[in-house]
Order: sequence, then C-alpha cells, then structure tokens
Amino acid sequence: MSAARTSKMTEKEKQILCVGLVCLDIINVVDKFPVEDSDTRCLSQRWQRGGNASNTCTVLSMLGASCGFMGSLAPGHVSDFIYDDIRRYGIDVTNVIVHAESSLPASIVISNISNGLRTILHTNRNASEQVAMIQQVEQYNATVPAKHRITTSVEIEKTREELYQLFGHGDVVFVSKDVAGHFGFNSASEAVKGLYNRVKPGAYLICAWAEKGADAMGPDGVFHSDAFPPEKLVDTLGAGDTFIAAILFSLCNGKSIQESLTFGCQIAGRKCGFQGYDGIVQ
Ligand code: FRU
Repeated sequence: MSAARTSKMTEKEKQILCVGLVCLDIINVVDKFPVEDSDTRCLSQRWQRGGNASNTCTVLSMLGASCGFMGSLAPGHVSDFIYDDIRRYGIDVTNVIVHAESSLPASIVISNISNGLRTILHTNRNASEQVAMIQQVEQYNATVPAKHRITTSVEIEKTREELYQLFGHGDVVFVSKDVAGHFGFNSASEAVKGLYNRVKPGAYLICAWAEKGADAMGPDGVFHSDAFPPEKLVDTLGAGDTFIAAILFSLCNGKSIQESLTFGCQIAGRKCGFQGYDGIVQ
C-alpha cells in the first residue's frame, strides 16, 4: 500500500509513504539454474534490502520523490544492515517500528544472468492489517477538504483470496500478471477490463505483463504501453516494484495515466538491464 500524504503538510512537503514488506534478499547470481542435489559455485553473491514496499521506496527516492517507509524490523545485525541502507537512500524512517520479539524475513534469490529470471524463496509475510489501515485513511479523508485527501494505492501481487478485498480500496490498484492469470485472463488488457468492476468508482486499475508491456483502465478508458526491454535481460528482481514506483512518481507529478504507464514501463525495463537498482537514474 502506498499513500500520498498531504495531511498537515504543505504542498511542498507531500510525501509518498510505502507500507509493507522489508526483508533481506540474499542474492545468488548464476549463469545456469542449478540442478537439484548439485553443488554449484555462484558467479557472485550479495545481500540487498528487499521487500516490495521497501524496493518501491528505493526507486522513488532515486527518482527524486520525497518518500517514507512504514513497516516492521526486528532487532539484530541484519536489521541494522537494512536500517542503514534505508537511510542511505534518504528514505524517511519515522514510521519504521522495531519489534523486539520478531525476526527479520529473508529471501533466498537465484538470479540467472543468462535470461534475467529470478527465483525467490521467501518467508514470513502478513497482509491481514492492510484493509484496516486503509479504512483509517478513508475515515480521515472523509473529514478533510478534497485537496488534503490522501491518495492510496494497493498492489495485489499474490494469488491469495484474502488479498482480493483490496481491489475495492485503492485509488490506483496494481494487479500482477500472476493474479490476472489466476482469474483466467490471458493479457493485461483482458485483465484490466475483466477486473475493473472490483475497483471503486473513479479508480485506475493497472496490470503489467512482462515483455508485453502494461495496460491501465480508468473512468476515461483503457490505456496501453509497450515494454522497453534492455539490450540484455540481466536481473528482473524488483522490476514490478520499480514499475509501481515510476508510475506513482509520475502520477504524483501531475502526469497523465498514459504518460505514467509509459514511464513505468521505461524505468522497469531499464532496471532489468543490470543488477540491483543503482543504475535507474542515468
Ligand atoms: C521483489 C521482492 C523481493 C523479496 C520478495 C518477497 O519484488 O520484494 O525483494 O524478496 O519480492 O516476495
């Protein structure tokens, strides 16, 4: 979930707050996907801060947006690494909470440089509080004039029944290719048209479809952008989070949905051409 926070802030101080997962990604770069029960030497191995909301913050911050991360950390060295990294990117940490009794989730990522595909093994995810949080924002919005309202955006990425209630709760709703496929759709255009009845009136529904680009649907029609693939696909880890960051950044800067969709595809495509996020802004 992300929200453009305008409450008690001047126009200048508007911030995009990303609420959700932060975790440790242990990334193993290989030139061939390993065979089970084999012993493979990686080309390289690195630790990287991960998690959808946290990755989206990284890219937002690199694009020049004022942004904050809201989520949970645990005590210990791994969390220190994560916390230092969040701050290194100039992301506001006011809403980061450390839970004494918990441990930080970690993902094992196999990143195959011969095709750019990433395979993720992750743990420890919790989505149940999201609707309650958005409802608080909705209650707040009902008490303030239109220009002070918080715009919310949600991502429905995983095929889990409990997540589908989120469709009705965002001004901008991102649905993944996986979820769209689960509903029986074979393209982004089919997905946004077929799922649009689930979003609230006036909202935009956006679906990215890898090398086929992305589509959006809103009250003013259906929009499409082709993909902008890099010369060579190197690393697709976090490409979806990058796409979301670029779209939110563009919409927050007053760009149209068509311009924002195209920008999202451009920046996500660029990200797939190198490891990590640090080459996004050229
Ligand atoms: C990428 C990502 C990784 C994380 C995984 C969790 O989108 O956020 O950084 O390990 O997904 O599902």
